[in-house]
Amino acid sequence: MKKLLAVVCLGAFAFAANCTMCHNGGMAGKLNTLTPAQIEAKLKDFKAGKGNPMMVNIAKGIADSNIAKLAKEYGKK
Ligand code: HEC
Repeated sequence: MKKLLAVVCLGAFAFAANCTMCHNGGMAGKLNTLTPAQIEAKLKDFKAGKGNPMMVNIAKGIADSNIAKLAKEYGKK
């Protein structure tokens, strides 16, 4: 059971690290031009099915408890 938990955590980490895969200034805008509050609001909209379908799909896979954390990590410092 502990092993399974570790794999799930690792998976979530790998996924979170991949925002920059698209948001590097190429295919989508850089995330660090937005404030954490803006990112949080956008992710909630995406999760509700509003906006770019690619992000809607991604946002649906993010737990609510992770949205604020991601926003802080990727937003304007
Ligand atoms: C498969 C590519 C891809 C990945 C991975 C991805 N995004 Fe996006 N994202 C997009 C596209 C395409 C758009 C819409 C284009 C745009 O508005 O720049 C977008 C838009 C956004 C926006 C709105 C930007 C704005 O200015 O309105 C936010 C916020 C965002 N993504 C956050 C994230 C976060 C956080 C992650 C990681 C959990 C992530 N994205 C991962 C492709 C991706």
